[in-house]
Amino acid sequence: MVVTGAADEGSRMNEQVRTGDIAGAAVSALPRGAGPAVTAKVRARHVDVFYGDKQALKDVSVDIPARAVTAFIGPSGCGKSTFLRCINRMNDTIPTSRVSGQITIDGEDIYDPRLDVVQLRARVGMVFQKPNPFPKSIYENVAYGPRIHGLARNKPELDGIVMSSLEKAGLLKEVRDRLGDSGTSLSGGQQQRLCIARAIAVSPEVILMDEPCSALDPIATARIEELIDELRENYCIIMVTHSMQQAARVSQRTAFFHLGELIEQGDTTDIFTNPRNRQTQDYITGRYG
Ligand SMILES: Nc1ncnc2c1ncn2[C@@H]1O[C@H](COP(=O)(O)OP(=O)(O)OP(=O)(O)O)[C@@H](O)[C@H]1O
Ligand SMILES: [Mg+2]
Repeated sequence: MVVTGAADEGSRMNEQVRTGDIAGAAVSALPRGAGPAVTAKVRARHVDVFYGDKQALKDVSVDIPARAVTAFIGPSGCGKSTFLRCINRMNDTIPTSRVSGQITIDGEDIYDPRLDVVQLRARVGMVFQKPNPFPKSIYENVAYGPRIHGLARNKPELDGIVMSSLEKAGLLKEVRDRLGDSGTSLSGGQQQRLCIARAIAVSPEVILMDEPCSALDPIATARIEELIDELRENYCIIMVTHSMQQAARVSQRTAFFHLGELIEQGDTTDIFTNPRNRQTQDYITGRYG
């Protein structure tokens, strides 16, 4: 399934791009930095992103599996957050940003003009670097999404979604008796788990996490890593991290970005023990970045 940069594969990709046949293609060529074969939940082909005249991502193609954690690593400014935002079309909200190429989820083109972006953002949840609970109660933080998406027919159903989301996010025990308290009254680590509960509450398929632990202490970080490991059984998780140790501990797949290009992708153990690219090796051994 995977070939690195062979000329005939390149021309086949171009043919697929032209004919729009990528999603249904029996063979999925990954032209750059490809690792071993993977069945993709999220598939990107030839993604370019510009902010005004400045190109932030160049020809990014990647396959991201379901039920696994994929880590995006690379030096600051290399385009990790930009690519993450492409997957739920958050870049649409930046007026200067322009995205081209193709991104599919389960074969469906998420840049199809007929696609409902609100629905997409329910399917693709996001957790940010800094916990950002709404200035509302713990209960309302989690109930908000299911309510606007009409996921509960009545109060008991909504209560059920809130409680199970808090449970899955590993927070229920700590907040069961204080659901009416403000979300912002929680500790940083608890707030981040609340944000994860909020993301889970709308039953997403994909969860994007942009440096979810960088504002947390080691104990809260360990708790979130444990949680991510549990969640991967049911979700496709993509996590940006600056911590090599964290990528190695938590992810099964890793993609290394540098200066807007995806340099190498593959199984995390292979990337960390046997990187094929010199730039990857330099980065993971701390030589730059
Ligand atoms: N809203 C924006 N407007 C203009 N340029 C932007 C915008 N957001 C990002 N960029 C530029 O795009 C490039 C990629 O930025 P991005 O935030 O994706 O990098 P990153 O890999 O997430 O970095 P970090 O590790 O520091 O978070 C950078 O050169 C950045 O300056
Ligand atoms: Mg970033």
